[in-house]
Amino acid sequence: MPDLERLLRAAARVRKNAWAPYSNFKVGAAVLAGGQIFAGCNVENSSYPLSVCAERNAVAAAVAAGHRRVDAVAIVGGAARPSAPCGGCRQVLSELAGEETPVVYASPSGARKTTTLGALLPASFRARDLAEAGAVTAEAAESTGSSRGPPGKRRSATRRRGTRSTGRSRSR
Ligand code: THU
Repeated sequence: MPDLERLLRAAARVRKNAWAPYSNFKVGAAVLAGGQIFAGCNVENSSYPLSVCAERNAVAAAVAAGHRRVDAVAIVGGAARPSAPCGGCRQVLSELAGEETPVVYASPSGARKTTTLGALLPASFRARDLAEAGAVTAEAAESTGSSRGPPGKRRSATRRRGTRSTGRSRSR
């Protein structure tokens, strides 16, 4: 079992940096990927629909660092009662995490609930749905088409570079 206490501490820490001047609802999230912790907070803006959740920012940080699998998730938000991750974030987490991936969400005062991603989102829309309909790129089918679980870390940098130089141009 991953160290959820450490992950929660990281989520509580990053929550202090949340930019939530419109809702005044601060959220911090931390994901474990490749043995490392990646944290994110919610970042709101004056065009309300473009608010970005803490969980999605934490996942984005892990992906930007080259990871393709999330092994555990911690979220700190809410008031007396911990607030569960929103539907959009559950979907994004399901892209890189499995049904058994532990998710702990806690209130700033310490109340918490520990569950799994599968319990939070029992019937997620996945790459395999696209693959079965023939509507998926070869890259996605190779990396996330399996029904067995999420993809792992990228296979190798050499392979990536090779694919890139023979594929599309480097300069944009
Ligand atoms: N929020 C999150 O960061 N994560 C969630 O799972 C639910 C909601 C943020 C979005 C917005 O900035 C604020 O909380 C109020 O919805």
